[in-house]
Amino acid sequence: MPATIISGVAIAKTIREELAADVATLSSRHGLVPGLVTILVGEDPASQSYVAAKNKTAHAMGIHSEQITLPAETSEAELLRIVETCNRNPAVHGILVQLPLPRHINEAKVLFAIDPAKDVDGFHPVNAGKMMLGERCFLPCTPHGILELLQRSGVETSGAEVVVVGRSNIVGKPIANLMLQKRPGGNATVTVCHTRTRDMTAHTRRADILIVAAGVARMIKADQIKEGAVIIDVGVNRIGQTAAGKAILAGDVDFDDVVQKAGAITPVPGGVGPMTITMLMKNTLQAARQAAGID
Ligand SMILES: NC(=O)c1ccc[n+]([C@@H]2O[C@H](COP(=O)([O-])OP(=O)(O)OC[C@H]3O[C@@H](n4cnc5c(N)ncnc54)[C@H](OP(=O)(O)O)[C@@H]3O)[C@@H](O)[C@H]2O)c1
Repeated sequence: MPATIISGVAIAKTIREELAADVATLSSRHGLVPGLVTILVGEDPASQSYVAAKNKTAHAMGIHSEQITLPAETSEAELLRIVETCNRNPAVHGILVQLPLPRHINEAKVLFAIDPAKDVDGFHPVNAGKMMLGERCFLPCTPHGILELLQRSGVETSGAEVVVVGRSNIVGKPIANLMLQKRPGGNATVTVCHTRTRDMTAHTRRADILIVAAGVARMIKADQIKEGAVIIDVGVNRIGQTAAGKAILAGDVDFDDVVQKAGAITPVPGGVGPMTITMLMKNTLQAARQAAGID
């Protein structure tokens, strides 16, 4: 029997409706409109489309969203000055600096300059540290979205063998950490694979839940998974374009090969992607509430 498709589009839609209702309540009861600033440096087409999607979603949900677009040659000092201005602006509750930044700018320096109370991407060391300790914080959007996908699809994580392929700071490490936490949605036994892993397939074949965030198109095949496993495909790889110039995307999992053997699987596109943006909105709402002491 083919796998159940875990639709990020459908789950994200439900969450966005819940959040939009919360935003409306915040506005009518407290006169507070959550404010998000997205900062884009340069003209990378993928980054442009990500930022546009974030702003569009924010507007649709009643979140005030402003995009600051800067030329690629913007200096690090100028970018830091803009971040500081946003830090001081009480109407701005969330700040997102779109990555990657041009090479001459130190990404860590810029991310660390964001007020942790406005760090809706959850990349600041204060939030990363709190996450590791299991404290309340802004969770990074993609791992947060994966948790929601699993939870809302009724996937039991407690005691499950979870294998994560990839150890980046934005996906692999935080999702591994979150699945390990001693609380509902966590309590898993977690293994993390990367390019130095000796026999990756030996690990992936054991996984009840396999989370792949490697950035290698269709690398995971059916013979590398366990029958009935839940497969979360984070990868977004551009493998070509249509005659109309639209990007053709593939995940890190060979969907057509794996779909007959897996128990459940997220598609690409339409799986993790919509959840990432939705969690950004959730964090922005949380930031606005916290700033106003309404939480
Ligand atoms: N849907 C979304 O919202 C969303 C959000 C973020 C990212 N993504 C996508 O997710 C993918 C990963 O993103 P990322 O930022 O985490 O990437 P990244 O920073 O490039 O990290 C990739 C990780 O995968 C590991 N890896 C690469 N090739 C491997 C292989 N053949 N075998 C085992 N491990 C391998 C790397 O190992 P080493 O550490 O040893 O190099 C690294 O830890 C990309 O396709 C990205 O576009 C999607």
